[in-house]
Amino acid sequence: MRTPRLSRRHALSGAGVLALAATLAACGSSGSEDSGSGADAAKKAATGDASEVDVVTWWSAGSEKEGLEALVKIFEKDFPDTKFVNKAVSGGGGSQAKQKLASDLAAGNPPDTYQAHAGAEIQADIEAGYLLDVSAFYDEFGLTAAFPETLIKRLRDSQGKIYSIPSNVHRANVVWASVEVMKAAGLDPTKPAATLDEWIADMEKVKAAGHTPITMGMAWTQLQLLETILIADLGADAYSGLFDGKTDWAGADVTAALKHYEKIVSYTDSALYTEDWEPAMQPIFKHEAAFNVMGDWAVAGFESAGLKLGTDYVAFPVPGTDGIFDFLADSFVLTDGAPHPGGAKNWLKCISSKEGQIAFNTVKGSIPSRSDLTEEEKAQFGEYQRSAMESFGKDTIVSSIAHGAALPAAASNAMNDALTKFAQGASDLAGLQSELAKAYADNVA
Ligand code: GAL
Repeated sequence: MRTPRLSRRHALSGAGVLALAATLAACGSSGSEDSGSGADAAKKAATGDASEVDVVTWWSAGSEKEGLEALVKIFEKDFPDTKFVNKAVSGGGGSQAKQKLASDLAAGNPPDTYQAHAGAEIQADIEAGYLLDVSAFYDEFGLTAAFPETLIKRLRDSQGKIYSIPSNVHRANVVWASVEVMKAAGLDPTKPAATLDEWIADMEKVKAAGHTPITMGMAWTQLQLLETILIADLGADAYSGLFDGKTDWAGADVTAALKHYEKIVSYTDSALYTEDWEPAMQPIFKHEAAFNVMGDWAVAGFESAGLKLGTDYVAFPVPGTDGIFDFLADSFVLTDGAPHPGGAKNWLKCISSKEGQIAFNTVKGSIPSRSDLTEEEKAQFGEYQRSAMESFGKDTIVSSIAHGAALPAAASNAMNDALTKFAQGASDLAGLQSELAKAYADNVA
């Protein structure tokens, strides 16, 4: 696959994009009036085959599969003449799906649409010409007004074009904790630690009580843990500066955060380092371990395991990140060369509709990417999700590295490799920091 090296100018969440988004908003433009952008997608969809839609996701098992099924039910009701063809590839975080997609796209064999994180992750696919600008659908489906501006600005590229439509918003900086294990260690589940150092002191207590303090799975879950520690130690501004060159990956502040990371990793069980998120959370479900840092798709995992918020488990922001929402969104694209562009358009319409988003997100643990839900509609969501909606409305939003919002895929892949080496003991903290700095410099700077 062509993997163009990205310049900072192209980074979707960079300062230039924000300025451009502000200019577009000031001009009252939605982007689609801009040099006829989106016209190609609109034409292909209007005249193209709508008999079926091939959809690639990584929601192939457990609670994620249940979320997809809830969405497909609405799709089949709304578009009975378009057959949904499930091309899901297993592997949390898209670990396998992305590899298969890369080779299918490079071979000129695209699915109609695929799951991709909103933000920098799809930039290489845009530059390789694999995707069509879907701005016209934003106008047609009324999405520019339905989605919050904070989301739309993360979707526009440096030309003001938009190449994907989000189905949901997830939060990545959440600690999920077993009430039973916290209590056994003398901790109060209603009063979680406020700083990383306090949290580390709590982990000591859990260890002394004979339980595993924290669990962590395969590489992307390690990157997710690391990014939340970076947010806690650097704060929202300096953390966001890691993506536009304002904060130095090789600097002393990152070194201090990495020391916290090393300490916290020392409380994990290395037997889980090859596991996906759900198996790595099993010890929390079974009250064998205290903490796990995971995105809020975990809610659906707890629900499937029959566990109740407040009674069996608690959820709180990673200590030191209260008031900050580590954002990611799943979104769907329209490929250039899609065999069924009319079917893809129907899918995009369904995943962005109120009905589709409520059906999907109530099951998936995420919140809708639309901000126009009525109080009655919000009441259909569980307690955790209602609190996430409130946080998304008022917190400082930062972009997730592990889930594609902040950096191009090539950079986060290289960071995953660096963390795997570190977890295996094949590099020390200094080695890890220089590899993280290199991953950024090679792919963004
Ligand atoms: C994320 C994705 C979520 C969830 C998670 C675990 O990347 O955005 O929707 O699927 O991976 O697989």
